[in-house]
Amino acid sequence: MSTSAEPGRTWPLVGRAAELDDLDDLLSTAADGVGVTVLLEGEAGVGKTSLVDALRGSARLLDVELRTAQATAMRGWPFALLSDALLVRSSGAGHGPGGSPVEAELADLLEAMHADPTGSIARYDRATELFAALLRRHGDLRPWALVLEDVHEADAPSLAVLLQLAHEGAVPRALVVLTMRPVPYRPELAELVAAWTRAGARYLELRPLNARATVELAENLVGGPVGPSLRGTLATTGGNPRLVADVVRTARAAGALVATDGVLDSTGSRWMDPLDEVVRRRVEYLGPEVLELLGQASVLGTSFVIADLASLAGDPVADCWRTLRHGLAAGVVRARGDRLVFGHDLVREALYNGLDAEQRRALHARAAWALRQAGAPTQIVTGHLERAR
Ligand SMILES: Nc1ncnc2c1ncn2[C@@H]1O[C@H](COP(=O)(O)OP(=O)(O)OP(=O)(O)O)[C@@H](O)[C@H]1O
Ligand SMILES: [Mg+2]
Repeated sequence: MSTSAEPGRTWPLVGRAAELDDLDDLLSTAADGVGVTVLLEGEAGVGKTSLVDALRGSARLLDVELRTAQATAMRGWPFALLSDALLVRSSGAGHGPGGSPVEAELADLLEAMHADPTGSIARYDRATELFAALLRRHGDLRPWALVLEDVHEADAPSLAVLLQLAHEGAVPRALVVLTMRPVPYRPELAELVAAWTRAGARYLELRPLNARATVELAENLVGGPVGPSLRGTLATTGGNPRLVADVVRTARAAGALVATDGVLDSTGSRWMDPLDEVVRRRVEYLGPEVLELLGQASVLGTSFVIADLASLAGDPVADCWRTLRHGLAAGVVRARGDRLVFGHDLVREALYNGLDAEQRRALHARAAWALRQAGAPTQIVTGHLERAR
């Protein structure tokens, strides 16, 4: 199954020259017959899919077969991820009993599992063994590349196969790329990452775009230079390309993009509510508990001291850390000592604006109290008291 590009992709990718070079080098290494594994991790929307999509062209040039599959929690049936990658041809035609004996046996086993999901352990073990063999031998004839996307959502049996392979070292004559978000945390994924790390896998953390690349992406999307007001909003995206695309798309859809002397800029504020809604949907995957705490944190500002959030929330500091750990791993907040900083002010604003008026006033009142206790300057405390009215 191939992954399809989201609207908003511009080509070539901005700000990713080094990462593209790295991947191309690794693909050439695999094309020379050496197995390489890459763990590509990055926050939601940072550009993992876009980057691995770029491998298509290089694979074609190097005549390396490319197999890709994307895990989704919806398709959680056993071995879904590996079946998609290995048993279905890129044309979409089923492989079925027409393939090699191993593939035929696997097809039978999977069918039996579907029919009777509570079936014998022996069936799972056999399928694990066969998938591992298939992966190991796939490159016998020619080198290949395997991209498994979003392994944080992968079915557990597929992860078990990948774990077994890790214990044996890189897949021969293959570039294997596993992409993942740091959240949700799954122990079986952590185990897999550790095993591949021990097996010498390369870890590539895809970071947000820098300020220049952020503006360049927006300019590519709107098709010309962008003005100061739109740049202001872009600066709150924390360099996340998906949020950049959201900003541009929402402004355009609301008719808020105006060209003056060839420069496109946003005007008015009627696109702000729809933008907040889009952004809130983007972080929904963090779950209600994390979002509630982050919503409370949004009252404290872009950066805040964790102890102040704890007294605002009325919870022990340790509990706050435990909850916020997920927000931290997701990059929504970043730690600076005992302070936390929102990674994307756009997200903070969307969460703040998502609080209902009553709740917001109550939180400002509590913030005033908590900050006064902690010795914050009068002016800051007064600011909260004003918004508590
Ligand atoms: N370097 C880039 N240049 C231009 N557009 C980009 C770049 N990186 C990402 N995009 C665009 O940003 C959006 C999100 O990118 P992408 O889907 O690749 O992120 P992801 O990391 O795979 O996200 P997810 O965690 O949801 O899988 C897409 O519209 C994509 O086309
Ligand atoms: Mg993706």
